[in-house]
Amino acid sequence: MSETAKSRVLVIGGTKGTGLLIARLLHERGFRVRVLARDPARAAAELGASFEVIAGDLTKADTLAPAVAKVDHIILTAGAPSGRYAPESLVKATDYQGVMDTLAAARQAGLAGRFVYLNSIGIATPSLAGALLNLLKRNTLVWRRRVEEEVRASGLDYTIIRVGFLLDRPGGEHAVIVGQDALALAPRHRIARTDVAEAFVEAMQHPGASRVTFEIVWGKGPRRESWSTLFEKLKPDPRSPATP
Ligand SMILES: NC(=O)c1ccc[n+]([C@@H]2O[C@H](COP(=O)([O-])OP(=O)(O)OC[C@H]3O[C@@H](n4cnc5c(N)ncnc54)[C@H](OP(=O)(O)O)[C@@H]3O)[C@@H](O)[C@H]2O)c1
Repeated sequence: MSETAKSRVLVIGGTKGTGLLIARLLHERGFRVRVLARDPARAAAELGASFEVIAGDLTKADTLAPAVAKVDHIILTAGAPSGRYAPESLVKATDYQGVMDTLAAARQAGLAGRFVYLNSIGIATPSLAGALLNLLKRNTLVWRRRVEEEVRASGLDYTIIRVGFLLDRPGGEHAVIVGQDALALAPRHRIARTDVAEAFVEAMQHPGASRVTFEIVWGKGPRRESWSTLFEKLKPDPRSPATP
């Protein structure tokens, strides 16, 4: 059995959108996939019997230890719901405290593989779109910026991937820019969820994406470079002072 076939990956956020695409792609590539679900019956019906569905909720810390037990890697794409008002209490509980509690549970469980975290572009560079998003989904970019520091200081092997505006479009048709330039949030910086899903699965396994923060958005023209070529150009994050 290959290493891939033996590895188990927990996807938090794997019931919808980008996380669901990641869960399906991991399964296609031979990984064992566990999905954390607030509504396990709905998730099991969506995913089918070859996925492991575990009941849990990012805002209920005691549900996270069973979810992270005996997994090789964790991918976290979950966040407070997009496109509608979310009070800061919900944003903080989901986008910040839920990730902190997942990191703590992962450390406690001795996670040996990668923690791959989905963030948004625009957390480090102010913009009109970012200000509007922070008004709707109260201060989400502020909390998500803080989370990054905690991920880097966690001592876990990690990859942080900041994504542009997400589209439900086919993947593989556009060039992808993998950069480290702290892009501002803007509608022109966009990318298909399908391309993001591929980036997550590839980055999780790539040594060049270890302890690295990068951004992905569509570029001009068709896809030209392999993920490996794109990841080889990445610079590791400066070591966090708090890194054990
Ligand atoms: N939309 C954009 O343009 C954009 C841009 C940058 C970043 N993002 C971020 O990208 C991520 C993926 O977005 P998406 O639109 O593809 O997915 P999505 O449809 O927003 O799905 C969000 C996922 O998070 C889960 N979730 C929410 N709260 C949870 C909780 N308390 N505990 C456990 N799981 C929870 C949801 O589970 P349920 O099925 O239980 O609801 C769902 O699986 C989100 O974090 C979003 O904030 C979005």
